Amino acid sequence: MAVNIRQADKKDQLRLWDFVQTAYGKRSQHKVPDRWLWEFTNNPFLDEEKLPIFIAEDGDKIVGQTCGMYVPLKIKNKKYKAAWGVDFIILPEYRGLGLGPRLQQAMGACPDIFFSIVMAHSARYIKKKIGHKPAPAVTVYRKFVKSSPDIILLYLSKRLRKYPLLQEITRIACTYFQMHLFLSYFINLSILVYNKINRCGFPDFKHLISEIELFDDRINVLWNRTCNQYDIIVSREKQYLNWKFVQQPNLPYKKFIALINNDIKGYVVLRKGGLDELYKGHIIDLYCQRNDHNTILSLLSFAINWFGNNVSSIECATTVHEYRQALQKLGFIMMEHIEPLYFTNQPHIAEMLSDKHAEWFLAKGDDDWDQHPPI
Ligand SMILES: CC(C)(COP(=O)(O)OP(=O)(O)OC[C@H]1O[C@@H](n2cnc3c(N)ncnc32)[C@H](O)[C@@H]1OP(=O)(O)O)[C@@H](O)C(=O)NCCC(=O)NCCS
Repeated sequence: MAVNIRQADKKDQLRLWDFVQTAYGKRSQHKVPDRWLWEFTNNPFLDEEKLPIFIAEDGDKIVGQTCGMYVPLKIKNKKYKAAWGVDFIILPEYRGLGLGPRLQQAMGACPDIFFSIVMAHSARYIKKKIGHKPAPAVTVYRKFVKSSPDIILLYLSKRLRKYPLLQEITRIACTYFQMHLFLSYFINLSILVYNKINRCGFPDFKHLISEIELFDDRINVLWNRTCNQYDIIVSREKQYLNWKFVQQPNLPYKKFIALINNDIKGYVVLRKGGLDELYKGHIIDLYCQRNDHNTILSLLSFAINWFGNNVSSIECATTVHEYRQALQKLGFIMMEHIEPLYFTNQPHIAEMLSDKHAEWFLAKGDDDWDQHPPI
């Protein structure tokens, strides 16, 4: 079967939406049309006539796609057109034919840098096979707040989805022996003991932290003052932040800035997840002068208080050493390291990205890592 790979253009829009509905089923309601338009046509960092999407076509049937979410990436003192790899999928009957690597190769050649943080094992395997390189790991931290029987039930049903026998045993244990109540009690007790041992008083800083609806010129002041502290970072200027954290559909972000005497010191973006996310609190993006330990601690303490007792845990992910220190100080536990992958066909960019001493800034707000409903 001869399957053709090509870049999609605006005329393909409705066929692409049909494809997304077929490929993603019920989940497609979160992908089209609002999110799709925001990501692939109303993205201010796209200046092409064509769509940032490559498709695999069998005759006139779309059977696979991979897409790029374009963002402005600062490397050293210059901005480049980078794209996060998103929405990579092939219809089940067309898998195993080598279409995945072909799609990834075609998309990878378009932006200056094509990169991803969180991805399925199969996608990671394919990207490595065609030459994507690893970037410094993003470390995920979690602070446990409280458990409840309904969270335990949902957690077990999600984790044991692929093991029907274990799922049945757990169902019996919970229905007849109240295992979820005991587990919940035990977890809450452990959190209490952990917090007593690692008692972390909240520092009393001078920051005024207030909610904002839009990122304004003050953010650009902060960015201009601080951006040189990182070699590789998605440009956190107001245009990008408003597109990513204000205009993004379906993700109700709360944005806060920290001021001292009207001078901006940093910002934090937060999101509270519902039951389908096990009531997790997300610290999506935190930015300030990296050696401004007071502002880092102040914004993180603010986030912990803002989530309060209404979440089961609070999660934050970062590549920044100073943030990691502050998270540990405030009782967050290191959960995992995630290795991002990148591809570029420009030798001078490859050289800068592979520099072992380069300071990367990556967070949960990057990529399409934060999604609802969770993957
Ligand atoms: C990811 C996807 C697009 C790849 O499709 P494909 O190109 O047809 O790829 P295949 O399924 O044939 O797998 C490609 C390679 O990955 C390997 N692979 C598949 N699943 C894997 C896994 N879980 N772990 C490691 N390797 C895996 C295969 O063995 C194969 O290796 P080979 O080329 O050396 O034989 C397809 O599996 C898919 O649509 N999955 C569902 C959506 C998804 O998970 N998308 C990724 C989001 S990040």
